[in-house]
Amino acid sequence: MKKTLCIFLSFLFSFFSCKKQEKNKKIAKQYCSRCHILPSPMDLPKEAWPFVLKSMKIYFGYPVKGKHLSPKKEYAIPKKPVLSEKLWAKIEEYFLQNAILEKQIKHSLPEYEKKSLSCYFHVKSLQLPPGIYSLADFLSKEKKWVLGEAVHKKLFLLSKDGRVLKSIPVPGMPTKIIPEKPYAILLAETLFPEDTTGGKLIRLKPNWELGRVLASGFNRPVDIALYKGNYYISEFGHLTGSFTKLNSTFQKESLASGSGWIKAVPTENQLYVLRAQEKESLLCMNCFQQANLRELYSFSPATGLVGFFLADFNQDKHKEIVIYAGDNGDLPSLPIKPRQGLYIFERKEAKVIKRAFLYMDGVYAAEAADLDSDGDKDILAAAYFTHKDSPQIVLFENLGDFQFKRIALESSFSALWIRMAKQVSQNSIQFLLGGSTIRYFRNVQQAPGKEVPALLLTLKKNLGSCAQP
Ligand code: HEC
Repeated sequence: MKKTLCIFLSFLFSFFSCKKQEKNKKIAKQYCSRCHILPSPMDLPKEAWPFVLKSMKIYFGYPVKGKHLSPKKEYAIPKKPVLSEKLWAKIEEYFLQNAILEKQIKHSLPEYEKKSLSCYFHVKSLQLPPGIYSLADFLSKEKKWVLGEAVHKKLFLLSKDGRVLKSIPVPGMPTKIIPEKPYAILLAETLFPEDTTGGKLIRLKPNWELGRVLASGFNRPVDIALYKGNYYISEFGHLTGSFTKLNSTFQKESLASGSGWIKAVPTENQLYVLRAQEKESLLCMNCFQQANLRELYSFSPATGLVGFFLADFNQDKHKEIVIYAGDNGDLPSLPIKPRQGLYIFERKEAKVIKRAFLYMDGVYAAEAADLDSDGDKDILAAAYFTHKDSPQIVLFENLGDFQFKRIALESSFSALWIRMAKQVSQNSIQFLLGGSTIRYFRNVQQAPGKEVPALLLTLKKNLGSCAQP
């Protein structure tokens, strides 16, 4: 009897508690989905929520003491609180009661098979000064690599086998090179988040000396893309920013304001655009028979989008979009973020369909190529914001049907990887990894090994036992 009563009471209790949760969720939805999509409590570990909620409370007109995220300029801050403490407590309750502890998240993460990096690649550590390598690219016409370094502000031109051919001082942090002739280099004024307008696009002369300034006044520009005769610049900014078009005479036109514009990639007909910070999303120009920028997919603001590329994974001659997310610079505790990793989307007429999510801690760079010579594309990914025991370089081996085997590639070298470029020709596949040997984020953990600024990986011809299970 006692037992039945107990079951009955616990049923009643969970029923009312569910009702209460539903109500709290509704309130959270009403107040927390104005500036970004409503995050799920599961997007962050329980320990990280109090700091985030405190930062968000500012937007509701509450004075907030102590450390918090700086409010973005595009949102007006009310002078007086616009919701009661009682309602706020319900929102807090919703996120804190439904979130789980970091150690529980860690427990549920997928595991890796372990292999050695040198099993797959000839690994060469490049003779370069320590620093933060904020740009890596391959110039296919010249058959040369380019690396850009942010602290000492230098551009390096390297031979295909990784020898430094030239070092060019530049007036800013190099973020992108227009990889077609005539070359031009995009520079941001500051490495750290700040609203500055000192970003520039500078022509590179055929002898690699700096030419004239083509356009200036950019707020931390991080990417430039060429699409239908115009350039598109992602001005990441800080508390503000812009997605900007440059026409053929380099006149500027801001197409969208706000911060977090991070990358644009053209296809034959469309321009895909990625945005980070709070409005984390994939956008598109020309996807709905409309020239203007439209949102295709929105992510939780706790995702940390970094970049993307297009590649065909299912051999239907139609490229998928692979988005990688591993940014973790905003929160002081550097929490494990369960939404970090790679997202693969198939493109259909006017929408994208999510086909795979591959969790990876702190991923900051990724590229696709057939690494096991089985005719389909695999993914090589590298991480910046990692935690203890997380791999720095990962091979996601394509098993077909958007299934991937997860292989951690271990080596005696380590760095915090921020950039990756690739070169695929008939007789070689290579990756250039640009790292950071200067640590700016307190808690970023690095795998043991010799710290190197850059690695050149050349795929071995005969993988032998590597490719075997
Ligand atoms: C007035 C606009 C606004 C409202 C309303 C708002 N947010 Fe935010 N939110 C932001 C901005 C801006 C950021 C990005 C902060 C940054 O990166 O500096 C953000 C970021 C976040 C993040 C990501 C934190 C991280 O870096 O991992 C979460 C989670 C979040 N908000 C939750 C909420 C919740 C919960 C509410 C409701 C209580 C809310 N937000 C209401 C503007 C808003």
